[in-house]
Amino acid sequence: MRFFSITNTFLSYCAASAVAAAVLPAASDRELRIPTSYESAVLGRRILALTPLGTLSTVFPREEDSDGASAQMHHRPSGLGGLPYGLMEYIADCEDDDLGNPTILAITIGTTFRNAAAGSNVSLAVQWTPPHPPAKRIKSGTQRSWLSRLGLTRAGPNDDYDYDDETAEQHHKHRSIALPYSAANLPRFSLIGYLEPIDGGDDRTGDVGARLARCFVDSHPDAKYWLPGNPIHEAHFVRLVVQQIYWVGGFGDRAFIGWIPVEEWRNVSRTEWQKARLPGEKKGWKEWSVWTDL
Ligand SMILES: *[C@@H]1O[C@H](CO)[C@@H](O)[C@H](O)[C@H]1NC(C)=O
Ligand SMILES: *[C@@H]1O[C@H](CO)[C@@H](O)[C@H](O)[C@H]1NC(C)=O
Repeated sequence: MRFFSITNTFLSYCAASAVAAAVLPAASDRELRIPTSYESAVLGRRILALTPLGTLSTVFPREEDSDGASAQMHHRPSGLGGLPYGLMEYIADCEDDDLGNPTILAITIGTTFRNAAAGSNVSLAVQWTPPHPPAKRIKSGTQRSWLSRLGLTRAGPNDDYDYDDETAEQHHKHRSIALPYSAANLPRFSLIGYLEPIDGGDDRTGDVGARLARCFVDSHPDAKYWLPGNPIHEAHFVRLVVQQIYWVGGFGDRAFIGWIPVEEWRNVSRTEWQKARLPGEKKGWKEWSVWTDL
């Protein structure tokens, strides 16, 4: 009886405690070890070094703390005090102390940076976007029921994924949507801390300023027009001093999810993150690969 077999299977999966482990391909013929927080920090530091964009969040100051004239000039609605505000920012990893504090080019007039100047702490959300599409996509067809897709009507833990036959490139030709990978299984993190000026960062005739400008423009060629000292907007190089790191490495049966101690984040050496590999750095990867496959 179909109902029975579903129920039994379901119960046995529950007994195995992690439904996710049943949904996702099993570790039958490969090691499935959840990375440590330090190993995750190494991946995170590589993501930071390779990723040019992040979402920088601040909190609006309370009305009494904000600069009324400036708020009026920017037609700021009332009642924003204490509300969170996140927006895309250019980021880079340019400091040679190798501590994993992101480098940001702060435009003084920008809302994010005015909130920070009014005392807001910040958080920076960064996600890993693979440079190559996966060789095979998880099947998106609707011909199978939800239960069967959850693996609840299928027998074995040895079942592999249900992959579409079309390649990722064909998939994108058919549907002109931006790379819809299973981003739920890709690493992302949030760095929490505060912004501070970088000594000498704005002086391009000095070592620090020259190096920062060169490094930042390497990641963001267009930013050469708004480097510190540009004639249009007041701009300064700042660092996000990382104090807390929350990490979601992907699905919880195969990735670390949780807080990374800040000493571990800072301790990762350039050599370590340069040796690490992330999903999709190599062509032909599988959408739900585990980190030991990379
Ligand atoms: C920023 O965070 C620190 C803790 O790291 C806290 O003491 C401080 O009050 C926060 N600042 C604001 C404006 O919330
Ligand atoms: C940081 O690195 C030093 C030197 O390798 C090591 O002794 C220390 O245990 C590390 N600390 C953490 C939290 O990883």
